[in-house]
Amino acid sequence: MTPTLEITNLKLHFPGHGAPIRAVDDVSFSIAPGETLGLVGESGCGKTTVANATVGLLAPTAGSVRVLGTELAGADATTLRAIRARAQMVFQDPVTSLNPRMTIGTAIGEPLLVRKVARGAELRDRVAALLEEVGLRPDHANRYPHQFSGGQRQRIVIARALALRPALLVCDEPVSALDVSVRAQILNLLVELQARHAMSTLFVSHDLAVVRHVCDRVAVMYLGRLAEVAPRDALYAEPRHPYTRALLAAVPEPDPAVQRAKPRVPLSGEIPSPANPPSGCRFHTRCPLATDICRNAVPELRQVGESQVACHLA
Ligand SMILES: Nc1ncnc2c1ncn2[C@@H]1O[C@H](COP(=O)(O)OP(=O)(O)OP(=O)(O)O)[C@@H](O)[C@H]1O
Ligand SMILES: [Mg+2]
Repeated sequence: MTPTLEITNLKLHFPGHGAPIRAVDDVSFSIAPGETLGLVGESGCGKTTVANATVGLLAPTAGSVRVLGTELAGADATTLRAIRARAQMVFQDPVTSLNPRMTIGTAIGEPLLVRKVARGAELRDRVAALLEEVGLRPDHANRYPHQFSGGQRQRIVIARALALRPALLVCDEPVSALDVSVRAQILNLLVELQARHAMSTLFVSHDLAVVRHVCDRVAVMYLGRLAEVAPRDALYAEPRHPYTRALLAAVPEPDPAVQRAKPRVPLSGEIPSPANPPSGCRFHTRCPLATDICRNAVPELRQVGESQVACHLA
């Protein structure tokens, strides 16, 4: 079956002062129909850059991005427009994602109207159904964004993203800007919608606890490259990359006894600059296990058990 998303040797470099910023450097992964892949890593590792390339908002420096088998790199405007209907993005901040002067009914219906999918009474019905689908009421359609809470606004943004029945939903930190109290509700909504529509999802988050809740597989990114890609349970039960282990060690456990028993693997030092990444394994400057080979040779992703790991020592 054609993957919903297939990224191969993707590079995204930005011009910097001097050396280019290698935000994404040779990343490959795919997402199967109906699958949710989590993309995790510290701030600045390139998650948003990957997400933006996936929906055609950024043109790759090199490599390939295929959505439902169609290549985005170098695609013409018509192809990009068609693909953008099939791959929708939900951003972190629901406030800036919505036009304050547009009723939410207009906002949700806009993609349907612009693409001539529905208008008039049919459009109103579709908008009403979308509002109900995300847990809001049809009569909310005439209200403006400021009349809603943060969680409700993210529901509105999700309704708009669903309007064209996308095959791929790309969510970039969809709950990070929300109150902790409403995060679980929005995550549950995403899980529910994902199952109901058999959508594929790329779920970007720096929060491993959140990713565990919503993803089938997890890709761990470090400084523009993938460190590990593994089925969810394998990743959390048996993390194979030292970086994954360090990230997991930093996740607080709700149970204090479990928290006390956890191995301490502190992640020391700052993330190096993506304009001047370390030689060999990019993680070697912070890795407790690093040896000569790690300083000299770039580790490729290779299969270890159920996981793919880019570590010489795994
Ligand atoms: N338009 C740009 N121009 C120059 N550098 C950029 C641009 N966009 C991103 N970068 C740089 O690329 C790197 C990756 O950024 P990106 O936003 O993808 O990281 P991220 O993993 O999403 O981080 P966060 O968790 O903070 O959202 C960073 O070093 C960032 O400063
Ligand atoms: Mg980001």
